[in-house]
Amino acid sequence: MKILGIETSCDETAAAVVEDGKVVLSSALASSSSLHVKTGGIIPEVAARKQIESIIPVIEEALSPIGKENIDAIAVTYGPGLIGSLLVGVETAKTLSLVWNKPIVPTNHLVAHIYANFIDRQEEPGFPIVSLVVSGGHTDFVLMQTHGDIKYLGGTRDDAAGEAFDKTARLLGLPYPGGPEIAKVAEQYLSQELNLFPRPMINEDTIDTSFSGLKTAVLKHTKENPDFDKNLLAAQIQEAIVDTLVAKSLKAVEKYNPKSFLLAGGVSANKRLREKIIEALKDKTEVFIPNLKYSTDNAVMIASAAFFNYKPIPWQEVTANPSLVIEE
Ligand code: KG4
Ligand code: ZN
Repeated sequence: MKILGIETSCDETAAAVVEDGKVVLSSALASSSSLHVKTGGIIPEVAARKQIESIIPVIEEALSPIGKENIDAIAVTYGPGLIGSLLVGVETAKTLSLVWNKPIVPTNHLVAHIYANFIDRQEEPGFPIVSLVVSGGHTDFVLMQTHGDIKYLGGTRDDAAGEAFDKTARLLGLPYPGGPEIAKVAEQYLSQELNLFPRPMINEDTIDTSFSGLKTAVLKHTKENPDFDKNLLAAQIQEAIVDTLVAKSLKAVEKYNPKSFLLAGGVSANKRLREKIIEALKDKTEVFIPNLKYSTDNAVMIASAAFFNYKPIPWQEVTANPSLVIEE
């Protein structure tokens, strides 16, 4: 089955055709990320306008090697995300579903991040699965007994891990998006001991955590030490976030004893997190980490999630839901 996936939840406009949830036949992406560097963050209105400009060319590019007549269904992100951006993808997908007479599968962006781990893989992750979805807006631990059976286990009580990267990067004067920037400049200090900042709730018997205190700690440190070494602080920030995520992942795996552990979401692109998660969990469960190009937002994962959770509904009933959560 060939599914056309469409993703427009934030500042990426993406379309892809994926066969049977795993084989990528085409993938196209346009990003308005560079426009947001100047403002240090996304202006939703600017992102939405860019989505309108990019959506048709991106879909055309994804369809060109396959042909629209060979598509079996259309999958589209309906949430969570920015309402203006989401609407562009949702309304386009509904129109195409009607005009081409193809089934439409509304897809949860957060669930789709998990499916980035199924792409280009001979061996699928075995159930039960524990997954950590770490993105710009979410830090969610979930338990999946099978496809479509997802239970939220815990996560951050305030800021998401990606948000912590982005906000602290801003305090250091690094450009948006902050996560990859912090990772880049931190590289030179990774062999040092890096325990300047607290690892919140790390010793508590819960997989919940909190990242808002990190912002305050970084702000305080930069005020008290005006000649701080930006790169060293970046390494300190990254280590505090990574260590917290790794400790909580270990707790989740020990508690739920899953067959597989899947790292997912934009922050899974972080090299330090990838290395430390594998090291900490490799003797306890099978660890899956998405191919780098499917870690951050893309449409391949949308088409893949729709294949494994194939539930088409009438196009009239598809509506964007900006505040959708992972356990629907
Ligand atoms: O999943 P994603 O692409 O978009 C959302 O659904 O939010 O995640 C974006 C988040 C941003 O906060 C970004 O800073 C973070 O992922 N990110 C990273 C890295 N690459 C992206 N954080 C740390 N290290 C990275 N290499
Ligand atoms: Zn995302």
